[in-house]
Amino acid sequence: MDLLVLYGQNPEDIATWDDLVDRAPVPDVYYRPAYLRAYALTGHGRPLAVVVRSGSTEALFSLLIRTLDVNGQVFRDAITPYGYGGLLRLSGPEHPGPKIAEDLFSQLRDWTRASGLITCTPRLHPLLDQDASWGVNQLPKEWTRIFSRGETTALELKQWDDIRHQMLGMAKGRRYDLKRARSTLDLRTSEGTNALDDLKIFRALYRQSMERVRADEFFFFADEYFDRLATELGDKFAVFTALAGDRPVASAIFLADRDFAHYHLAGSNDEGRTHGAATLLVVAACEWARQRGCSILHLGGGLRPNDTLWEFKRAFGGKVFSYSYVTLIADSEHYEYLVGQPGVPWPYLDPLKATDSPSARVSRPVRSHAEALVTPKVKVVGVGAGGHAKVIIDILSYFPRMQVVGLVELATRLFGETIEGSLILGHEDMLPQLLAEGINSAFIGIGGVGNNRPRAEVYARILKLGFDLITAIHPQAVVARSVKLGRGVSIMAGVVVNPAVVIGDNVILNSHCTVEHDCVIGDHVHIAPGAILSGAVEIGRLSHIGTGASIRQGVHIGERVVVGVGSVVVSDVPDGMVVVGAPARPLKVVSSK
Ligand SMILES: CC(C)(COP(=O)(O)OP(=O)(O)OC[C@H]1O[C@@H](n2cnc3c(N)ncnc32)[C@H](O)[C@@H]1OP(=O)(O)O)[C@@H](O)C(=O)NCCC(=O)NCCS
Repeated sequence: MDLLVLYGQNPEDIATWDDLVDRAPVPDVYYRPAYLRAYALTGHGRPLAVVVRSGSTEALFSLLIRTLDVNGQVFRDAITPYGYGGLLRLSGPEHPGPKIAEDLFSQLRDWTRASGLITCTPRLHPLLDQDASWGVNQLPKEWTRIFSRGETTALELKQWDDIRHQMLGMAKGRRYDLKRARSTLDLRTSEGTNALDDLKIFRALYRQSMERVRADEFFFFADEYFDRLATELGDKFAVFTALAGDRPVASAIFLADRDFAHYHLAGSNDEGRTHGAATLLVVAACEWARQRGCSILHLGGGLRPNDTLWEFKRAFGGKVFSYSYVTLIADSEHYEYLVGQPGVPWPYLDPLKATDSPSARVSRPVRSHAEALVTPKVKVVGVGAGGHAKVIIDILSYFPRMQVVGLVELATRLFGETIEGSLILGHEDMLPQLLAEGINSAFIGIGGVGNNRPRAEVYARILKLGFDLITAIHPQAVVARSVKLGRGVSIMAGVVVNPAVVIGDNVILNSHCTVEHDCVIGDHVHIAPGAILSGAVEIGRLSHIGTGASIRQGVHIGERVVVGVGSVVVSDVPDGMVVVGAPARPLKVVSSK
């Protein structure tokens, strides 16, 4: 048997386990040792991972070893804990199919038997369509049981309304709640160990909510469970708190890995519910997950089929998924004995006695999904290979779904060179060919020290060819919710854009510039590093505001204007002027070339 077992108590194994998850094509937080170790703390079982190989396909199963005391007899089994972990593909084809699945699952079953366990029950991930891609329904019936576990809903984060800062397709009730919540509540987000204080608030609100809905004892997690998740998951763990004044009224835990974020647990009080706080938290988490480069926020399911929690989640307009779990029976005699015994926990369910309760939904058919949710990467080509391109490539590297395929240039001497790891593929003439190859997103890699016309011309050419221009915003830029962004805008690190600003197409907001409230910035404008626009400044198209320049509030700067580095503009500037100095005075008329 070509099998590796990693133990959740052994520091070396923990590091290997985490590393394997990191290297998986689609990792998720539920597979990580930190997640399972938190359950171990609550007495749910002993965490371990089993890695199995069949040809080029390797899979990791994250499991808890449980001890069950039934009628005075002790049994042990392995299961995936609460959440959606279970089977993680590490390598091999994306759709391994039933043959490979049978080989892997039978090896796992052999290990289960050799370890003295009655069964092993991995879950299948709802967002990865594992039921279909592994063909689990075709596993040998003699030693497997497949149970449909219910439905979950997930939001595709590309369905984002950049203007209203909310998900597209939200039902009216959710939009109303969001508006109300935003007008009355404040929001606080904390991650990892910085969340430990907010976790205390979370725990109190969560406990109240669980008591209110008379939740199963299972949902009353020990304090250490939360603290361990925060400490060991680090920035993959976040607490969102909604506050009315200084009173916390709702709180939720979100978990995130590379591609998927998850709504983990949430609680609120009456005041929070009155103000629509839960909606605010989910929408804020969408923004958080987007910033991290996730493609999906998984909201999960309800406590019971079609309950109010499910209705709440569905009203965000996401897609519906279903998932199953597979029980591998290693010791059929004891399995048969356990099925149907009173008080035996999941998964020893008697299918004939199953009801439609959350812990016993076994009669629903396994639904296959029309499309799996692992959306392909967005392939992007850079047009122009100047210093500006380096910065954009760096920004895009924070977004794992963005893949820069290379750059095109006019300067032939640069062909074949690389910048920031991206190859300069050749002449701009290649763009139609790249488009035909399915690369239909682009960024402009040309900055400029005064003349923005070349950028505007490239912009027009690219759009005419049919490319989509991407917006690149550094994760450490602060852009207020109400800012209206044009197409192809790039916003560098340290930039602050305050509310009610309107930014035109192809604008560059360079490192650490500040754009105060109510400014209006025309198309193709470049605000150079560290420049400061006070409130309600207007800047006409194609203008350049030099490094470190300051513009007094309410000043109107015309089109094609150049403001020199460090200048202080205190009065309006007509079109086509170069102004310099403090206070800025006309230096000359902009050259018409
Ligand atoms: C304003 C600017 C365009 C003028 O450039 P230029 O036409 O080449 O002008 P010169 O450098 O020949 O300077 C002409 C005169 O203006 C002065 N001058 C130029 N820029 C000035 C500035 N920012 N503030 C004060 N005086 C300035 C020069 O000292 C020179 O004065 P002099 O004739 O008394 O010697 C340029 O200096 C500038 O500031 N560009 C913006 C650069 C920038 O923002 N880069 C960021 C890229 S991300």
